[in-house]
Amino acid sequence: MNVVSTAPIGIIVAMHEELAVVLSELQHAETIERAGLQLHRGQYHGKDVIAVICGVGKVHAALCTQLLISEFAVRQVINLGIAGGIGPGIQPGDVVIADTLVQHDMDVTPLGLKPGQIFRLDTFDFSCDPALLDAAQHAAQQLASHRSYVGRIVSGDQFIADPAKSRWLHEEFDALACEMESASIAQVCYLNHVPFVCIRSISDNANEGAHMDFDEFMPIAVANASTLLQHLVPAC
Ligand code: ADE
Repeated sequence: MNVVSTAPIGIIVAMHEELAVVLSELQHAETIERAGLQLHRGQYHGKDVIAVICGVGKVHAALCTQLLISEFAVRQVINLGIAGGIGPGIQPGDVVIADTLVQHDMDVTPLGLKPGQIFRLDTFDFSCDPALLDAAQHAAQQLASHRSYVGRIVSGDQFIADPAKSRWLHEEFDALACEMESASIAQVCYLNHVPFVCIRSISDNANEGAHMDFDEFMPIAVANASTLLQHLVPAC
């Protein structure tokens, strides 16, 4: 069979179990190592993709995203993972699709900037691509047993397990979820003019009980990732 190759879609996931969802259906697969990352290239549901676990935190996420763009010329970036829910009513298992993203630990307030504003950058937040956001919403409608929300996701190099901090993140940024990577992925995509979308499954409520019960939550995150990717990637 002739395989027509196009610029791939970059898929950045958080966990091995989520990557396994992609790898189990990846055809013509090859694995490439760069900067300590394993990048898996192949065809997923008829599309050329390159899937990778970026590691935890904004530096890992930014490095991985620039690598996908500069070396592998991805035409879009999809980020899936987990997050703490900080919006009212958001429960573990629910899904939050980002419309905008902010780095909540960016703090140049002593120079008069508001929390989250990056010094001398021409935007406060980073927007997801409207067409990808639309496709993500359609994909999320296939999640039978969980609700999905669209709103702001904030990222920082902190695991949030404090109700006061989580309240501040919600009030200051109007955020629905917090995690540790996606706003930096969004920044790199913004600077490179590459369309981006981020979908996160809620694993905890960023409070005292935020230590994740992976055994309980993992099957939900994996099922969500599987359903979302199967419906989103063919639409990309
Ligand atoms: N990822 C999942 N839960 C999180 C939390 N509470 N804080 C930061 N990142 C997370």
